[in-house]
Amino acid sequence: MEPTDLPTWAEQQAAVLLGSLGDRWTHVQGVVAQARQVSVVLAPEDRPYLAAAAWLHDIGYAPPLDKLGFHPVDGARYMRQQGHERLASLVAYHSGARFEAEERGLVAALAEFAPDDGPLLDALTYADMTTGPAGAPAGRPTPSGRPRGRRRRPRTYDLDAGRLRAGWYSRRTRASAERGRVQGHAQKPRVTPPRYAT
Ligand SMILES: [Fe+2]
Repeated sequence: MEPTDLPTWAEQQAAVLLGSLGDRWTHVQGVVAQARQVSVVLAPEDRPYLAAAAWLHDIGYAPPLDKLGFHPVDGARYMRQQGHERLASLVAYHSGARFEAEERGLVAALAEFAPDDGPLLDALTYADMTTGPAGAPAGRPTPSGRPRGRRRRPRTYDLDAGRLRAGWYSRRTRASAERGRVQGHAQKPRVTPPRYAT
């Protein structure tokens, strides 16, 4: 499959597996819309992967795939079965999944997949974190780490602001991880808004 064909394939997969799940499905569609806006910060060759990953990031919630009860890994295993290793990595590590894995004793399961830390993962996490549980834009993150309430979409997308925002979560989560290592214990990142099912 050519990379440019990935978004269409991903949308079909998501529609089949998540289309009947109500808010979960509208959330995924909202993440796709956010991803379209933020994709301008990526290299053109990476953009189809962001679009596809946006469709697929929550695929592990699909009842037929929900084996481990940890949707990033359940989804990533499915992506691997389909032969899409890069998408598997993005699904596995999206939105700070490594921290939930630490809390739940699932680090070994997550380690089945190589992390792909970089702008693509940052952009996916940004799109997910700025989309509410029912798909509405949740607003950009505030310095405290909590998204503001619903806000109007900006009419135009500011490229530099997009780069800053897309990297914001990953810098915070990496900093939290570093503090956890220094202090000798896992530290829950403050950047994941608990009221959002990601
Ligand atoms: Fe999500």
